[in-house]
Amino acid sequence: MGALPTLLLVFSIFRISIAVDTIALNQVVRDGEILTSAGGSFELGFFSPDDSNRRYLGIWYKKVSTMTVVWVANREIPLNDSSGVLKVTDQGTLAILNGSNTNILWSSNSSRSARNPTAQLLDSGNLVMKDGNDDNPENFLWQSFDYPCNTLLPGMKLGRNTVTGLDRYLSAWKSVDDPSKGNFTYRLDPSGYPQLILRKGSAVTFRSGPWNGLRFSGFPELGSNPVYTYEFVFNEKEMYFRYELVNSSVVSRLVLNPDGSKQRVNWIDRTHGWILYSSAPMDSCDSYALCGVYGSCNINRSPKCECMEGFVPKFPNDWDMADWSNGCVRSTPLGCQNGEGFVKFSGVKLPDTRNSWFNRSMDLKECAAVCLSNCSCTAYTNLDIRDGGSGCLLWFGDLIDIREFNENGQELYVRMAASELGRSGNFKGKKREWVIVGSVSSLGIILLCLLLTLYLLKKKKLRKKGTMGYNLEGGQKEDVELPLFDFATVSKATNHFSIHNKLGEGGFGLVYKGTLQEEQEIAVKRLSKNSGQGLNEFKNEVIYISKLQHRNLVRLLGGCIHDEEKMLIYEYMPNKSLDSFIFDKTRSMELDWNKRFLIINGIARGLLYLHQDSRLRIIHRDLKADNVLLDEEMTPKISDFGIARSFGGNETEANTKRVVGTYGYMSPEYAIDGLYSTKSDVFSFGVLVLEIVSGKRNRGFSHPDHSLNLLGHAWTLYMEGRSMELIDSSVGDIHNLSQVLRLINVGLLCVQCGPDERPSMSSVVLMLSSDSTLPQPKEPGFFTGRGSTSSSGNQGPFSGNGITITMFDGR
Ligand SMILES: *[C@@H]1O[C@H](CO)[C@@H](O)[C@H](O)[C@H]1NC(C)=O
Ligand SMILES: *[C@@H]1O[C@H](CO)[C@@H](O)[C@H](O)[C@H]1NC(C)=O
Ligand SMILES: *[C@@H]1O[C@H](CO)[C@@H](O)[C@H](O)[C@H]1NC(C)=O
Ligand SMILES: *[C@@H]1O[C@H](CO)[C@@H](O)[C@H](O)[C@H]1NC(C)=O
Ligand SMILES: *[C@@H]1O[C@H](CO)[C@@H](O)[C@H](O)[C@H]1NC(C)=O
Ligand SMILES: *[C@@H]1O[C@H](CO)[C@@H](O)[C@H](O)[C@H]1NC(C)=O
Ligand SMILES: *[C@@H]1O[C@H](CO)[C@@H](O)[C@H](O)[C@H]1NC(C)=O
Repeated sequence: MGALPTLLLVFSIFRISIAVDTIALNQVVRDGEILTSAGGSFELGFFSPDDSNRRYLGIWYKKVSTMTVVWVANREIPLNDSSGVLKVTDQGTLAILNGSNTNILWSSNSSRSARNPTAQLLDSGNLVMKDGNDDNPENFLWQSFDYPCNTLLPGMKLGRNTVTGLDRYLSAWKSVDDPSKGNFTYRLDPSGYPQLILRKGSAVTFRSGPWNGLRFSGFPELGSNPVYTYEFVFNEKEMYFRYELVNSSVVSRLVLNPDGSKQRVNWIDRTHGWILYSSAPMDSCDSYALCGVYGSCNINRSPKCECMEGFVPKFPNDWDMADWSNGCVRSTPLGCQNGEGFVKFSGVKLPDTRNSWFNRSMDLKECAAVCLSNCSCTAYTNLDIRDGGSGCLLWFGDLIDIREFNENGQELYVRMAASELGRSGNFKGKKREWVIVGSVSSLGIILLCLLLTLYLLKKKKLRKKGTMGYNLEGGQKEDVELPLFDFATVSKATNHFSIHNKLGEGGFGLVYKGTLQEEQEIAVKRLSKNSGQGLNEFKNEVIYISKLQHRNLVRLLGGCIHDEEKMLIYEYMPNKSLDSFIFDKTRSMELDWNKRFLIINGIARGLLYLHQDSRLRIIHRDLKADNVLLDEEMTPKISDFGIARSFGGNETEANTKRVVGTYGYMSPEYAIDGLYSTKSDVFSFGVLVLEIVSGKRNRGFSHPDHSLNLLGHAWTLYMEGRSMELIDSSVGDIHNLSQVLRLINVGLLCVQCGPDERPSMSSVVLMLSSDSTLPQPKEPGFFTGRGSTSSSGNQGPFSGNGITITMFDGR
């Protein structure tokens, strides 16, 4: 207790000498105080990741306007009030204490004692403990770069010091507002030949593959680029990956997200926010061991998995049903007999090297000889592919997690029985052979699928896994695995599509409620036979939604095809759609402010997933209150992907002659010029936010004083500082007015006229979860209502009331 007054005294001295990047022995940083690195790149202080009282000590970018935390000290033990202090102790450590007592919540380690311990926040974002002015990194007592959280900053090492045993790895946050350790880690695995491995708990979800001198085998796109340089160091003392920025004024980081995606994102500016540069896993072939042992994955092929040449499915029935997990076995088993040799496979990601052995000085010939001489050796290749190749890498046991790349794949020599070698002629330099064999057997699989479908229709079994092959826009063929329900079951579940079971009308037909035998409630969307665009929208929905999975997207349980009938079966949402609440006088009372806030957050996350984190990267194009469903806990689920579109990695904007969407939610550039991008979804999201806050529809909004629509009304109130008047009177008491005003501000930023002015969904999610100052919104697009002539956009040709409309050549 005696220490307390001293602490406070020291603090008041410190306060005078603030604006520094350093604190010395017994000095403290109190909650509310901030250290700034000398070059002004990073700040250190206490923060809350959401609106709670949980306080963490962290480091964040100073120059990035959306609060982006790169390191957290007490990630597992937040303070519950603002009494926290960071202190340099006389043991040469950093400690976080609760100001009111001397409990140590968190402390750094120190390898040795120091006479004059000092903590400094370096401009690299590294918080270091040093002795006096000893700036030699070798002599640091401790540094935050040795204890990464979810972010790898330039200069940080991802990997191990084999002498000290220090293992620096990334671990994701539990969720965007909870920095404690989540389930995902990204770590350099030292067994065999080292590779970076992404794990969920202890299960491997993705691996980088071994370093081949130029890049990791699984990152064919890694190469010289304008943003960063990188290296992999592997010697007797250390093994690690590290990158440096080419231009130090660029802001770029590698982050492991709570959903297990590892991404490189670059900061552009306040309006664009963080932009995705690259991401892993990048597609389903990156899912660890998708095709099992000796199976090979090719994302451009359908089905994706095939056994390698000389191998056949272990369980052919499962394999044909797209259950590839048991992998493949040799057509001719190995007996370690004379005459065994190797078949060369080209263009692959090297298999898992956790059970491998290497020698840097052997050449490929010696490598082959060593492999052949050991009966458990199954494959070999060059360790380093530079200068024609050098070194030797050998595999023992089954080969797993192999995929094919269009470019920058590697060569792999796989051991085969003598008879297999004879079959494929000479075994050296046969490049395309495997690929030819591949396409023949995929024909076989298509035939099997056809037979299977016929069989299923005959046998009328309940739910079986089946395949629906559809063409995506642009002619790219997509196969979709979907459990198939038989017609009798669905018909029975919906009381033979009784009118009493009708729930409503979806994009392409009627929706019925049904109950399966096991009491499971379902929603059945039935494609109406005379719906023109309906079939396309049906296919679109199947393709997209079956590939997406997120808490805030509605889940597809299966499909049903019977003669002309086509149906989709979803989980049932007892609370129906959002519009049935917010625009209804009585039901809207059930949505207090807190619920509305959670709903908006959920929609934002669902949309962020579509835009950025999902494999397909999707623009929804028809986001509206009617398309947001609510489960029993009022968790919002985005639905109706009938007119959604996928967009490629670099593509951010597309043009269409067929303008489809819903009046009141469509952005000006889309409605007028047919241009759609993620920013058109952001616009619709903004409209939705303002509708949820106000309880009024944008479409059909009227006000006695003016002819503005809801957007114009909200903006006028905002500009006059009267935003609170927008709030729906049925939300009841508001405990957090600043949160509501903040949401209105975000909503208005999203509906700004120019697409470039609107924030990205990742910025929106950050804005919703931080207290950073928000920019002032500019004039919204389409802000005048009915009967007005002075509109900022032409609304002439639209009609309909909350119904999705289609227009050809919308000009
Ligand atoms: C904060 O509150 C939580 C839950 O009430 C508790 O588990 C945690 O130990 C508290 N932390 C501190 C530092 O008091
Ligand atoms: C920190 O101090 C506050 C206020 O004195 C107290 O409520 C809280 O329990 C303390 N937490 C710990 C972990 O000591
Ligand atoms: C400090 O060292 C101990 C024992 O070596 C270890 O358990 C702990 O995780 C370390 N803490 C930090 C913050 O490095
Ligand atoms: C982590 O994994 C456990 C067990 O698999 C699961 O219950 C939990 O929900 C997961 N947590 C997160 C944040 O995904
Ligand atoms: C570094 O980036 C900044 C900001 O993007 C740019 O203004 C500057 O010209 C770049 N410097 C070099 C050397 O490329
Ligand atoms: C690696 O290969 C070289 C050349 O064949 C040999 O001299 C050396 O002993 C090998 N190293 C190991 C660890 O086997
Ligand atoms: C083959 O290699 C394995 C793994 O390195 C080793 O355990 C085994 O002793 C070797 N067998 C022979 C015969 O050299």
